[in-house]
Amino acid sequence: MDLYEYQARDMFEKHGVPVLPGIVATTPAEARAAAEQLGGGVCVVKAQVKTGGRGKAGGVKLARSPEEAEAHAAAILGMDIKGHTVHRVMIAAGAAIAEEFYFSVLLDRAERRYLAMCSVEGGMEIEQLAVERPDALAKVAVDPLVGIDAAKAAEIVDVAGFPEDLKAPVADVISRLWDVYKNEDATLVEVNPLVRTEDGSIIALDGKVTLDENAEFRHEDHAALEDKAAANPLEAKAKHMNLNYVKLDGSVGIIGNGAGLVMSTLDVVAYAGEQFGGQKPANFLDIGGGASAEVMANGLDVILHDAQVKSVFVNVFGGITSCVAVADGIVGALKALGDEASKPLVVRLDGNAVEEGRAILAAANHPLVTIVDTMDGAAAKAAELAAAAS
Ligand SMILES: Nc1ncnc2c1ncn2[C@@H]1O[C@H](COP(=O)(O)OP(=O)(O)OP(=O)(O)O)[C@@H](O)[C@H]1O
Ligand SMILES: [Mg+2]
Repeated sequence: MDLYEYQARDMFEKHGVPVLPGIVATTPAEARAAAEQLGGGVCVVKAQVKTGGRGKAGGVKLARSPEEAEAHAAAILGMDIKGHTVHRVMIAAGAAIAEEFYFSVLLDRAERRYLAMCSVEGGMEIEQLAVERPDALAKVAVDPLVGIDAAKAAEIVDVAGFPEDLKAPVADVISRLWDVYKNEDATLVEVNPLVRTEDGSIIALDGKVTLDENAEFRHEDHAALEDKAAANPLEAKAKHMNLNYVKLDGSVGIIGNGAGLVMSTLDVVAYAGEQFGGQKPANFLDIGGGASAEVMANGLDVILHDAQVKSVFVNVFGGITSCVAVADGIVGALKALGDEASKPLVVRLDGNAVEEGRAILAAANHPLVTIVDTMDGAAAKAAELAAAAS
């Protein structure tokens, strides 16, 4: 999960990273009030969108008075930055910047460790710097078992080429940013610019943080950081039901057990769909090993409420779970959903107790259900039904 800058700012503050006061506003009038609250002097109006390059797009503007902050907010709110509409701005206290630096630490999956990057030439041209003069961007590998301890922080500022008098204060801020990375289970913490102000303080003026959703169970407070308004409502509902669901753009709803089977089901449906006007899978949904009636009903509930779905393909391989339980699950789910189950279902069952499972479905004789024995055949049938309903 990516955080907004204002959320990163708060998180930095919690871990002792030096930041400037910032207040979120959703209207120009609120922006003006925020600027007054910050003292009425120089402030910066910053678009809060989860994408980079806000400054270059005109989404970061210096204001010399609350009136100017209000005018900038009026211009920035509603602006489109790389496909992201600005719904909020942050009014940040203005810093007297002497120098801009860059620091980030991220997960380096390929090397199975972390990577810290640092430069004494930070700011809005950092991407260009990385391409044109890669030597000016220090890259220091971080052992995950050790992390950024005092020695590693000293190494980072050394390789980056900070002057002697800045090494200790910058290393101290890097250590605190590492606390954010480690204690919040982030996969990215980036500060651009990290600045030296004219009075000599080192301050994080901008922050990008990505949190590892797999570590959510350790962080009850992270749920509140989620932008519910921006989340897909079907994904939000599925998440609430503890389903592994990802919304896609096609017309064939997919339910399967096991991530590998579901992935290959997506491929098979996309392939079969080519013969039926380009029908594609509408989602990824792995209901896991159990496939109980309740989980099946929850899965169908989410998929049938997707307006793009025209047919549903239930592809279950009975392993430890027998096909009897799966068939009971499907029958139970259809009963529970009643009239809400309104789209054709193609079911392919195989594996443990397959004959008994198919017999249960055949006996139930539900008008919406078609049983097909093979995965390819079922995919083609589901695509055909979706095309017919489109
Ligand atoms: N509080 C502030 N006071 C003074 N100047 C600021 C402040 N915040 C940002 N700036 C200036 O604006 C520039 C751009 O700000 P910022 O880094 O937040 O946006 P950005 O880098 O364009 O956005 P992104 O990081 O999304 O690409 C900074 O490099 C800095 O020079
Ligand atoms: Mg920036």
